Amino acid sequence: MNLEQEIAKRRTFGIISHPDAGKTTLTEKLLLFGGAIQKAGAVKSSKIKDHARSDWMEIEKQRGISVATSVMGFNYRDVKINLLDTPGHKDFAEDTYRTLTAVDSVIMVIDCVKGVEMQTEKLMEVCRMRNTPVICFINKLDREGRDPFDLIDEIEEKLDIKVRPLSWPISMGKTFKGVYSLYEKSLHLFTPSKITIEEGLEVDINDPQLDERVGENNAKQLRADVELIEGVYPDFNIQDYLDGKVAPVFFGSAVNNFGVKELLDTFIRIAPPPVERETTVRVVEPEEKKFTGFIFKIHANMDPQHRNRIAFLRICSGKFERGSNYYHVRQEKNLRFSNATAFMAQDRETVEEAFPGDIIGIYDTGNLKIGDTITEGEKVMYTGIPSFSPEIFKEVINLDAMKTKQLEKGLLQLMEEGVAQLFTYELGKRKVVGVVGALQFEVIQFRLKNEYNATAEFQSQSIYKACWISSDDPKKLNEFIDSKQRHIARDKDGKLVFMAESRAWLQMVQDNFPEIQFHFTSEFK
Ligand code: G4P
Repeated sequence: MNLEQEIAKRRTFGIISHPDAGKTTLTEKLLLFGGAIQKAGAVKSSKIKDHARSDWMEIEKQRGISVATSVMGFNYRDVKINLLDTPGHKDFAEDTYRTLTAVDSVIMVIDCVKGVEMQTEKLMEVCRMRNTPVICFINKLDREGRDPFDLIDEIEEKLDIKVRPLSWPISMGKTFKGVYSLYEKSLHLFTPSKITIEEGLEVDINDPQLDERVGENNAKQLRADVELIEGVYPDFNIQDYLDGKVAPVFFGSAVNNFGVKELLDTFIRIAPPPVERETTVRVVEPEEKKFTGFIFKIHANMDPQHRNRIAFLRICSGKFERGSNYYHVRQEKNLRFSNATAFMAQDRETVEEAFPGDIIGIYDTGNLKIGDTITEGEKVMYTGIPSFSPEIFKEVINLDAMKTKQLEKGLLQLMEEGVAQLFTYELGKRKVVGVVGALQFEVIQFRLKNEYNATAEFQSQSIYKACWISSDDPKKLNEFIDSKQRHIARDKDGKLVFMAESRAWLQMVQDNFPEIQFHFTSEFK
């Protein structure tokens, strides 16, 4: 198979949802279809259950599990699917944001009872930044959910994306009959089941068979609904979906394996294969002969005695070959990857060659950082892997002066892993760690002690946001820095950051310094 064919058969995507909407269940069903697992219940959830909310040992266990489920590669029909896992817990949202930089599309799961929830809104914002194509799967139709028209209106409104239903439910909850596929014009009848799959029956919407199958009233309602949908929504246009402008919507019940096959079949037909990507210098096409890729995730090994880590690399162009020499652009040096790993379902195996869209794991002893680009020698760096402003900030206080070096090393490595972000103040070199959720502090504290033998305490800071600052006028930027010295810090890459204490104060500062641009992500034009 040539490079073009390898690329055309790959689909690299992530499933996103608010916790409990059904991401893990759907993942499992997809793996069952791919033959990657044999029975339900085999996928360990990477989510942290509520009762373990403050139990960091549980987090550590989850960290172990999540290496195995970070990337699940499987074949379905003649397509190679790479499914990237995203932590559902909001405290680890940044990990999810970064993973989304490595996918070509997403499936978003929405609970039909709860509708669009907070975490879904945030994740959608990240998708929108890169115009990532989104398919919505409205789940749990076996429950008394909200009116389907209300649900899709809410998606359009809260997620700020146009939708196009491709299937439509016939009743819901106890009287749920199934879905009508508007795409294939076929009827899928619901039978609660964890394993069997109902093939669709080709039934025209006006066929009296429909009345026999789902009852007269339901058939009448479906006809009215379909007429309304066809009248209100323009025909489904694949290009609009690929451009991230329209999200096709499916209805189903993951736990009952209902609507999942239909979703998967449509997914492999419409979801994009690996696409071009921007770098600091030029756009790179996947079909280019030379290998390029970037690191989007780093996972420390569980064994504190051996500090090697697995870096997850997304291949963007060319062919990766084991044992070849590749170029680490940031460090300007050559690296040989003799022991890269492929992720096929839950088995990890040594990879001989891999293609755009594939994710490989590289054992690393500290050379690689999130966002690093690897090439065959060209000095380009992939963009679109920004840091986002954290939500909670605390100053690091060293409690053991004898272990200062260990603390610094530990902090540096944990930050490289993306566990949190470190900001160093210009004045006094105070170190402040920023995280998305409080749980991350427990993880940091525990791992500093456990892996680096360093003892640190974290002191709360009243900081609202870290804003990366820029200005077209260097003089104005310097004036601003001078006047706000106490609030200026640098991020891990040395970029200037303004640490705003409150929303109101930030607003005031923005009004007073119109020449300064304040950004909530580390990448801006
Ligand atoms: P998440 O990864 O998005 O957090 O959600 P997960 O798949 O773990 O699903 C959350 C809960 O919703 C699970 O129940 C799961 O069984 C249930 N669920 C998933 N799909 C459906 C569906 O189509 N219909 C109904 N009624 N429930 C569904 P749980 O009791 O929290 O966990 P478990 O003990 O069943 O695993």
